[in-house]
Amino acid sequence: MSTLNEFEWEEIEETDAIKTFMSHAPYYPEGFIKSKPGGLVMPRCFPAFFAKMADFVPRDNDVWVASYPKAGTTWTQEMVWNIVHDCDFETAKSKTMDERYAFLETGGIMTAHVEQITRERCAGMGLDDLDAFMDIWMKSVETAEAWPKDQTRMIKTHLPVDFLPKEVVANAKIIYVARNPRDVVASYHNHWCLFEEYSGDYSTFFDGFISEGGPTYNSYFYNVLGFWNIRHQSNILYITYEEMKKNLKGVMRKVAAFLDKTLTESQEEELFAHLQFDAMKNNKAVNQEQHVEAFSSGTGAKFMNKGVSGGWKKKMTPDQISRIEAWEKKHLENSDLKFQYE
Ligand code: A3P
Repeated sequence: MSTLNEFEWEEIEETDAIKTFMSHAPYYPEGFIKSKPGGLVMPRCFPAFFAKMADFVPRDNDVWVASYPKAGTTWTQEMVWNIVHDCDFETAKSKTMDERYAFLETGGIMTAHVEQITRERCAGMGLDDLDAFMDIWMKSVETAEAWPKDQTRMIKTHLPVDFLPKEVVANAKIIYVARNPRDVVASYHNHWCLFEEYSGDYSTFFDGFISEGGPTYNSYFYNVLGFWNIRHQSNILYITYEEMKKNLKGVMRKVAAFLDKTLTESQEEELFAHLQFDAMKNNKAVNQEQHVEAFSSGTGAKFMNKGVSGGWKKKMTPDQISRIEAWEKKHLENSDLKFQYE
């Protein structure tokens, strides 16, 4: 059993920005709710799932990758998985990320409606067993529990630190990856258009993102600051997307040291090449090609979209820049966290 914090859940105030955002979000006709405290935005089915998360039993050698969505989670997962598994690229390329990591809370974000849509879309993916495939998402805690005991269990989560079992936060090896919110919002809009049939433009998504409602896993700052504030614990490694862009080898070494691993010179070179954007973009085990085809067939859209830092400069209007600056300032008032925006 795990020890979890307790939360209340409240309705999200229906501002114009939220109403517009939700009018473009067909997967969630029942809307979202948010946690108190924290303001974590989740589908209405989440609290029941969260209560069940107490059944989750942490293991001593679990390795976690945590983030707010679109921070470079997949990139980090690929790096971490290969470091843990002594650069077994053969297995890394033959098993998808969804098979190599348990995604802890997906059972709590698959509403009945989303389950139905996912089933319909994924039925065309040529899977041997659709039910078993769906179970990975629907029964995510059970998926984690069923992990072979003789293997390091790899877990992905987008939950804020307050929502993780207390034992995990205190003891488990957690690699947290952050990315500046200006690039995250563009990437998250692309993601929602790909996988959630979001029909709104960037501007409507932006308004939702910086509001008190908006896409699943908001608020961004609740997530990032929670991990930033515990970054000095010896079981936490806080890295950034921007640092990976600038000095990938340096981050790889830091992660290896954190996981008590050593990369040989040739492993380091191979892993460095394996983690380049073009290599990841063409790697079927990580590029979500099958899912994109199932959900956004014929649109030419990509999960690995641009893979750059600083793209927000071309994307945002002067008005959006001044609004996001004010929003960041408000949330960082009492924090020493600083983002890299390039
Ligand atoms: P963009 O949408 O800006 O292109 P997540 O895995 O958390 O969903 O994050 C996805 C983002 O990470 C996408 O950003 C994707 O392109 C980027 N990404 C994935 N692999 C990358 C790599 N090897 N180099 C740079 N960016 C990468």
